[in-house]
Amino acid sequence: MLVAGIDVGSLSAEAVILDDSGRILGASIIPTGANAGKAGRECLDKALSECGRTVQDLSSVVATGYGRISIDFATSRVTEITCHAKGARYFFADARTVIDIGGQDSKVIAIGKDGRVTDFVMNDKCAAGTGRFLEVMAKALELDVEELGPLGLASQTSAVISSMCTVFAESEVVSLVAEGRPREEIIRGIHDAIAERTLALARRLGVKAPVVMTGGVAKNQGVVKSLEFRLQTKILIPPEPQITGALGAALSALGR
Ligand SMILES: Nc1ncnc2c1ncn2[C@@H]1O[C@H](COP(=O)(O)OP(=O)(O)OP(=O)(O)O)[C@@H](O)[C@H]1O
Ligand SMILES: [Mg+2]
Repeated sequence: MLVAGIDVGSLSAEAVILDDSGRILGASIIPTGANAGKAGRECLDKALSECGRTVQDLSSVVATGYGRISIDFATSRVTEITCHAKGARYFFADARTVIDIGGQDSKVIAIGKDGRVTDFVMNDKCAAGTGRFLEVMAKALELDVEELGPLGLASQTSAVISSMCTVFAESEVVSLVAEGRPREEIIRGIHDAIAERTLALARRLGVKAPVVMTGGVAKNQGVVKSLEFRLQTKILIPPEPQITGALGAALSALGR
C-alpha cells in the first residue's frame, strides 16, 4: 500500500505519495486558492495521477498546513513544525535547524541529534519576512516573484529598506524606483530585509548546523545567499523545498 501527505498552505497546496519503503512516487504543487478543502483534493489527485495510482491505493493520508482542518478525508493531522522537520531530515539526515519561509509565516525549528524537534520560533503576526512580503514587492516592481532571485544576485550593492512594515516598505520601494535606483539594487535590499528578519527570529532559538531551508522562499537564491552570509553557514536546500511539509506528512503516515 501507498501513503500520502498533503500540505495546504496559505498560498500553495502540495501532495506527496510514498511507497512503504519511503520512496517518493509522485508529488504536486498547486495554488491553494479560496477553498482549502478543494485544493487538498486536487493536489492529491494530481500527485496520484503522476504515478498512475488512485485513492484506493492509499492506506493513509496525513494532512498538515494551515488548511489541514479542511481536509475531511485525512486519516490524521500533524503540525507543520513536525512535518518540516521530518521532511528536511529525509534529504539531510543530520539536519539540526530548519528554516521554513512560506507565504504567510516563517518558522525556525531546532532538531536534536535524535531527530526530535526540541524547540521552534514562529512569525505569523506580520507579512514582513515572509513570502507575502516578496509577492507585494514583486508586484510593486511589476515582476513575477520567480524573477526576484536572479535579479537580486546580479547586484553588488543593496538599497536600504528601513521599514519593518510591509506596507511602508512597499512605499519605500516605490520611492526608490522613482529616484531611479537600479531595480537589482532594490531587489537585493528586499532580500536583505527578509534575511534580517529571519536572522532575528533564528537568534531567539540559536542556530546549529547543518541548516536546511524549506518552503517556497527557499527557491529564491537571493534570499538564501543573503541569509547564508548573515548566519555565516551554508544552507542546504532539498531538491524541491516547497514539498517538504507534504513529504513530512507522508512520512508521518508511514509511522516514521
Ligand atoms: N519558483 C519560485 N521562485 C522563487 N520564489 C518562489 C517560487 N515559488 C514560490 N516562491 C515563494 O514562495 C512563497 C510561497 O511559499 P510556500 O508555497 O511554501 O507557502 P505556503 O506553504 O502556502 O504558506 P504558509 O506555509 O505560510 O501557509 C511565495 O510567496 C514566493 O515568495
Ligand atoms: Mg507552508
